[in-house]
Amino acid sequence: MNACIVYSSCTGNTRKVAEALADTSGLPCFPVRIAPEPDDFDILALGFWVRKGLPDARALRYMERIRGKHVFFFGTLGAWPHSDHACRCMAATHEILQAGGNTVVDGFLCQGRVNPQVVAASQRKGGHPLSPERLARLREAERHPDAADLAAARLHWQRSLQKYTANAPAPQPPCLAAGILSTPDPIGSNTSL
Ligand SMILES: Cc1cc2nc3c(=O)[nH]c(=O)nc-3n(C[C@H](O)[C@H](O)[C@H](O)COP(=O)(O)O)c2cc1C
Repeated sequence: MNACIVYSSCTGNTRKVAEALADTSGLPCFPVRIAPEPDDFDILALGFWVRKGLPDARALRYMERIRGKHVFFFGTLGAWPHSDHACRCMAATHEILQAGGNTVVDGFLCQGRVNPQVVAASQRKGGHPLSPERLARLREAERHPDAADLAAARLHWQRSLQKYTANAPAPQPPCLAAGILSTPDPIGSNTSL
């Protein structure tokens, strides 16, 4: 099985999740800027940070190059991970990957600390008001991804790999795959005896 982890991360939250996946699976892990082409792999874990309700632009560009693969996606965001906003992001990501003929094995989102400079800048520009609900959410996001998020992400990735291995076609020896040898009859199937 050829598998790897590719991630895009601006402030390090998504990188933490990616590194936990690499640590638990022993698979190679690449920041998207230097990631190999997806064609080299059967299954990929693709990580992104959420921007305007969608995977960030770098992750999206890589995603559009993934064709006919098994994909587990993961991401970090400022919103609550079970909010409508997060669900819409999951659904959109699913759709983009499926449009490329990929099989989405699973998806996982957790909160990630929002850069305080971005929050302050958005206040100056008259962005979303800092309501008590928003403040509480941003405060909670500051503690993520935490140990529980990383453990949950690991579990999702391990299960995705197990699911893929259980359904993947059995590897053939190169000589069979190339059609050089014919498949021997199974023992006991020779009716001429
Ligand atoms: C410019 C910008 C736009 C963002 N847009 C969203 C958004 O639409 N929804 C959301 O839940 N979080 C949003 N966030 C928060 C980030 O997705 C979150 O902090 C994430 O964990 C950052 O990941 P990173 O550290 O891997 O870059 C935004 C952050 C920035 C800087």
